[in-house]
Amino acid sequence: MSFSVPSLSEPAIVTRLRAAGCVFAEEEARLLVSTATTPADLGAMVERRAGGLPLEHVLGWAEFRGLRVEVDAGVFVPRRRTEFLVGEAAALAPPRAVAVDLCCGAGALGLALAEAADLAELHAADIAPAAVRCARRNLGDRGRVYEGDLFDPLPASLRGRVDILLANVPYVPTGELGLLPSEAREHEARTALDGGADGLAVLRRVTAAAVAWLAPGGHLLFETSERQVPRAAQIVAGDGLVPRVATCEELYATVVIGTGPTG
Ligand SMILES: C[S@@+](CC[C@H](N)C(=O)[O-])C[C@H]1O[C@@H](n2cnc3c(N)ncnc32)[C@H](O)[C@@H]1O
Repeated sequence: MSFSVPSLSEPAIVTRLRAAGCVFAEEEARLLVSTATTPADLGAMVERRAGGLPLEHVLGWAEFRGLRVEVDAGVFVPRRRTEFLVGEAAALAPPRAVAVDLCCGAGALGLALAEAADLAELHAADIAPAAVRCARRNLGDRGRVYEGDLFDPLPASLRGRVDILLANVPYVPTGELGLLPSEAREHEARTALDGGADGLAVLRRVTAAAVAWLAPGGHLLFETSERQVPRAAQIVAGDGLVPRVATCEELYATVVIGTGPTG
């Protein structure tokens, strides 16, 4: 004998999510209802969310610049504020640009840039196998995704040819990881968040190698906290790039752009 699971009503889901501390319970309930394929699926999703799993991991996708980006368990959830970085990159990209999305996570930045700019080539890389699998699905035939440490897995033929280098590297200082919301602390990999003592350790390694990969006048773009800007700009300048800072109050986003020598 089989029993069908009664479907939860949207108001009942809102109540359950609100009791679990979800601030945007109405919006989340709507998304869960529209994503679940069966009543049993919906019930399980609501319980996973009420148990603290990030909404995007429960849904299996995140919205980023109007795109639906698949996000697997443990993979960094692309943040809405990073949409600003992609907008800045799109404004700087020349026609038929060669773009690299370093530390790509689910591949959201590269995918969104491919939508917003005229790219001839898109390459993405991440050290985490789960992220690489996810990015490969998201990019499909729009770009190549490599697994490995920073620039290591990229084809050598890209050296000196990269017009746009996106690098949303981990930038949370190790001592501040404990202050992150539990959704990030418990459900995103530490390697996706930990930027070392001052949060700029991974960035230093990126800027040190960036000039060798950038095309003449090419741009490196990365996100920081407001507090990290002076030090980050110093690091960029020290490695032969001209730093510029762009901010977006609405998204609370700070982006540092390092432009390479033109000749
Ligand atoms: C803050 S997350 C950003 C992910 C993606 N760019 C985004 O914004 O959604 C940082 C990413 O860097 C990757 N990462 C950390 N250290 C790395 C390294 N040494 N080489 C390559 N990727 C690295 C992590 O696996 C993680 O996916």
